[in-house]
Amino acid sequence: MGFVKVCRRDQVPQGEGLRVEHGGEQVALFDVNGELFATADQCTHGAWSLSEGGYLDGDVVECSLHMGKFCVRTGKVKSPPPCQPLKVYPVRVEQSGDVLVDF
Ligand code: FES
Repeated sequence: MGFVKVCRRDQVPQGEGLRVEHGGEQVALFDVNGELFATADQCTHGAWSLSEGGYLDGDVVECSLHMGKFCVRTGKVKSPPPCQPLKVYPVRVEQSGDVLVDF
């Protein structure tokens, strides 16, 4: 689909997730030491938002429902019960401060 502006850089909180949406697709943005990563917002184990119901520790987000863990860089499962990886999206930050996600 291509890169779409989803928010401004200063809207993404450090150490937490921010949910953004485009065309019905919900994506979680995570700030890991100043670097942004985007994953599907919903845990692959259940209907749970990782941006609102997840804890970010380094580049790993822990789902607070059953404590599954994912790497936000790669989407890979780091700890069960989830067995399916998260979809990850390319992110770009413009000099203007706009954050773009490639849906
Ligand atoms: Fe996320 Fe179960 S819903 S680990």
